[in-house]
Amino acid sequence: MNREILERIKIHPKKQDIVALLNGEVNENDLFSIALEEKLRYVGNKVFPRGLIEYSNVCLKNCFYCGIRKGNEHVFRYKLTDEEVMEGVRFALEHHIGSVVIQAGENQFEAYTRNITGLIKKIKEYSGNALGITLSLGEQSQKTYQNWFDAGAHRYLLRIETSDPILYRKIHPSDANHSFETRLKCLQMLQQIGYQTGTGVLIGLPGQTISQLADDLLFLRDFDVDMVGMGPYLLQSDTPMMSEKDRLLSENERFRLALRMVAVLRLLMPDINIAATTAMQALHPSGRELAVKAGANVIMPNITPGVFREHYALYENKPGIGQKPHDMLEALKAGMETIGHELVLNAWGDPKHFFARTK
Ligand code: 5AD
Ligand code: SF4
Repeated sequence: MNREILERIKIHPKKQDIVALLNGEVNENDLFSIALEEKLRYVGNKVFPRGLIEYSNVCLKNCFYCGIRKGNEHVFRYKLTDEEVMEGVRFALEHHIGSVVIQAGENQFEAYTRNITGLIKKIKEYSGNALGITLSLGEQSQKTYQNWFDAGAHRYLLRIETSDPILYRKIHPSDANHSFETRLKCLQMLQQIGYQTGTGVLIGLPGQTISQLADDLLFLRDFDVDMVGMGPYLLQSDTPMMSEKDRLLSENERFRLALRMVAVLRLLMPDINIAATTAMQALHPSGRELAVKAGANVIMPNITPGVFREHYALYENKPGIGQKPHDMLEALKAGMETIGHELVLNAWGDPKHFFARTK
């Protein structure tokens, strides 16, 4: 019976089977080992690192769950100088990390977006095109996305957060700045422009059902994304959603659910890139390794210059704040080796799915 669902889901995914898997109705270890098998078959035991540079925690948005929301007055706001970004870039190059992610809160003013264009060109030039560049800079105009693409960025991450428009409305303020439809349009634009497109969802939000999470997975498949980063929702004291803390699954349950989401997604989309997210590591000391064993193949070590890292606090107990990037990278390599995986250096690590999709 167990195996039946696991075999069926690969060929003909039905919502009720996805729900059963997410509910834990099938032995979890069977699910994880089948997902691992499927991953090894399609993308191998290779794990690609992306050096994460948290460019700025200034954000025009007020998402109810996020620690760096505009309304949080307890945050020391920063924006890295170009030189500080290049420090991260140099670190990536020196340590053979083949690709970097520039991430920030959302800002759309002209001088800001222009500066990003300049930075992309600088990184391309400085690295002699050796570094892949992923952006995670929120919703922007078509023109801005196009400018950044033309400057040399080739991947973009923009989480849909939830594929259910009603839940989306519950976890965001009801104003034009926080529109589900806009978010969806942005994702479509990114795909059309030619970015390797990544999205993802929050897992274990207050009131979120397994049925909604199953729909999230089907959304990811139907949207034909190339990359997914999803992780457990985590509390942050200075956010409005803190008031709903009593409605949450336990941390352990949220963590297990996130692992199951990764595993089922790997069965649905065997050739995409799936991140073992920092939020997973925040809930479990071996969160990253367990996520990789359940189907993930990307890891995003934080290479933001040290003094700024503590201020990019989306949620509480964010790991790696005090860790030196060098130590962190060594720990990462060792961690992957212990589970029979290889941290791949000097490679962009593009998602196979992108090439199949755009062929
Ligand atoms: N818990 C987990 N993830 C969060 N994010 C923001 N706030 C939280 C939180 N409290 C995630 C969102 C966003 C990404 C940058 O961080 O999914 O897209
Ligand atoms: Fe800003 Fe992103 Fe946080 Fe929303 S989740 S407040 S857009 S940084």
